[in-house]
Amino acid sequence: MQRWNRKKAHFPLLVLFFLVFVAVTTFLHSESSIHQIHENPDHVHNHQEASPVVYVKPNLPAHLNRASGILDRFSGCNSTKEYSGRKISWVDRSQQPGKRREGLQGCDIFSGKWVYDNTSHPLYIESDCPYMSDQLACHKHGRSDLGYQYWRWQPHNCNLKRWTVAEMWEKLRNKRLMFVGDSLNRGQWISMVCLLQSVIPADKRSMSPNAPLTIFRAEEYNATVEFLWAPLLVESNSDDPVKHSLNERIIRPDSVLKHSSQFEHADILVFNTYLWWRQGPVKLLWTDAENGACEELDGLGAMELAMGAWADWVSSKVDPLKKRVFFVTMSPTHLWSREWKPESEGNCYGEKEPIGVEGYWGSGSDLPTMRMVDNILSKMSSKVTVINITQLSEYRKDGHPSIYRKFWEPLPPEKLSNPTSYSDCIHWCLPGVPDVWNELLFHLL
Ligand SMILES: *[C@@H]1O[C@H](CO)[C@@H](O)[C@H](O)[C@H]1NC(C)=O
Ligand SMILES: *[C@@H]1O[C@H](CO)[C@@H](O)[C@H](O)[C@H]1NC(C)=O
Ligand SMILES: *[C@@H]1O[C@H](CO)[C@@H](O)[C@H](O)[C@H]1NC(C)=O
Ligand SMILES: *[C@@H]1O[C@H](CO)[C@@H](O)[C@H](O)[C@H]1NC(C)=O
Repeated sequence: MQRWNRKKAHFPLLVLFFLVFVAVTTFLHSESSIHQIHENPDHVHNHQEASPVVYVKPNLPAHLNRASGILDRFSGCNSTKEYSGRKISWVDRSQQPGKRREGLQGCDIFSGKWVYDNTSHPLYIESDCPYMSDQLACHKHGRSDLGYQYWRWQPHNCNLKRWTVAEMWEKLRNKRLMFVGDSLNRGQWISMVCLLQSVIPADKRSMSPNAPLTIFRAEEYNATVEFLWAPLLVESNSDDPVKHSLNERIIRPDSVLKHSSQFEHADILVFNTYLWWRQGPVKLLWTDAENGACEELDGLGAMELAMGAWADWVSSKVDPLKKRVFFVTMSPTHLWSREWKPESEGNCYGEKEPIGVEGYWGSGSDLPTMRMVDNILSKMSSKVTVINITQLSEYRKDGHPSIYRKFWEPLPPEKLSNPTSYSDCIHWCLPGVPDVWNELLFHLL
């Protein structure tokens, strides 16, 4: 079932590169018409003016903080050498090791099957959601087979809690729910906003497109549902949601604090990170690096360092009685149809049905990455709840936008005549798969 093809590995990365770029541009275009009503004074909007000590490890001497600066898209490396082997050390400070918060022993809600159910799903109508992204609005962009909207996730040994908007709002009353991550996580955030917004009168809700932090607010509940663009979790040169430096990825593997200054006051946090680590080697600029000297490491190794810095933040800053933290596992891609249909040459384009083979696994979900993530999260089970979307989303080759989304770059005729060549098999149509990720979140909350 598993097929690894080294030769082909570069192509999806290029596609991803392009799509991530398009995705972000698309998103901002579609959001720019939404008014900014009011700002939350808790948030630092201008990185340059804020005190630099906020962004780096507080235990560093002040002169190093200043000298190291904050990464942005203009940052570069003065020199690059091989990875030194330096690690992030973090201690698990959980008071009650092993005490999981799931509370549902005996039922693995992530093990199950998709059931066609056009009475319970979709949970909202695409055109009824004013915050829908043109990148994910597949029906609007010409998709006529709407079967992808009608599937419900059915765990093998129990039922999922039935989604109720009113109950979700009660859980969110006086709280900040924040999604932190990449464009897949942003899709889940848009899904959540679409799921929640319908019961709030138009004059009682607002959206502030304050990239990299975007905030949906519902007055009567005194609640917000926010998205923070942080595709690599730690500080990086790709933290501008519109203009990322695409030639090389530079991260500060030991600094999650540029982002945590924005998310530390959220009550419920939903993190993800994965695809941005799949684009080749990453440059590491340690906070104490002298003269801008970088080290280079493969994506998996770099992701492990970033997860370590994140784990360090969670284990030292999160009180599980006051804050809920979720981690969403890797979102699968469907770039090679031969993985589910031997001998075929396509990708997700034209797919209308989920895969029915139990346990199906494609090359879009990297096993070494999964093992590394498992290993870190297993040490944090008292503070982090896993939303394990990988296997269930693996089945959903039908759920991607393919050609049915807005493309901001004009497509040349040779591409248009070959739909597979520009299909988006990474993101997910809405209503669709990310709504189910949110039903799982609702179930676990
Ligand atoms: C649901 O699907 C069934 C079988 O495809 C179809 O007969 C029925 O009309 C559908 N109902 C709705 C509300 O779409
Ligand atoms: C509104 O929510 C914030 C937390 O997000 C809380 O600090 C504040 O007390 C709440 N306001 C009221 C009036 O309940
Ligand atoms: C790059 O090296 C030059 C010359 O050694 C130095 O002046 C400059 O500060 C370095 N840049 C960074 C970002 O450290
Ligand atoms: C997610 O589920 C897969 C099986 O589908 C499992 O192998 C993996 O360990 C799980 N990951 C986490 C972090 O729970």
